[in-house]
Amino acid sequence: MAYVVWSKEYSVGIKSMDEQHYKLFELTNNLYEAIKTGRKNEAVVETFRGLVEYVQVHFTAEEKLLEKNEFPFNQLLKHKQEHRDLIMEIKVLFEKAKSGSAIVSFEMLNFLRNWIITHIAESDKRYGTFLNSKGIS
Ligand SMILES: [Fe+2]
Repeated sequence: MAYVVWSKEYSVGIKSMDEQHYKLFELTNNLYEAIKTGRKNEAVVETFRGLVEYVQVHFTAEEKLLEKNEFPFNQLLKHKQEHRDLIMEIKVLFEKAKSGSAIVSFEMLNFLRNWIITHIAESDKRYGTFLNSKGIS
C-alpha cells in the first residue's frame, strides 16, 4: 500500500504541474518504503536526497511558470516564501539524516507528506484557478 496516493482531488488543473506533483508523491513513497523495509541509513539518505533535489527542481519550475504568466506579485511572493520555508526545513532534516545524528523517521515523513498535500490543496490550487482563467492548462 502506497503511503501517499495520488488522486484527482490533488489536481491543480495544470498538466505539467500535476505530473511533477505526482512525481513528488512517488519520491515520498520511495522514502517511506526505504524506511519501512529497514534499509540501511545510507540507502535511506540516498532516497531522501532524491526527494530533496526534486522538491527544488519542482519549486523552481513552478515559480517560473507563475512569473511567466504574471501571477499577482504579492501572491507570488507568498508562494515563494512557502517554498523557501519548506526547503529550509527539509534541508535541516536531510543534513541530520546525512550526518547520522538522526534517522529518517515516520514522524519526519508525516511532516513532509502533510506539507506537500496541504500546499498542493491550498496554495497550488489557487494558481491553478488563476492560470486556467488565462486559458492555460
Ligand atoms: Fe507550490
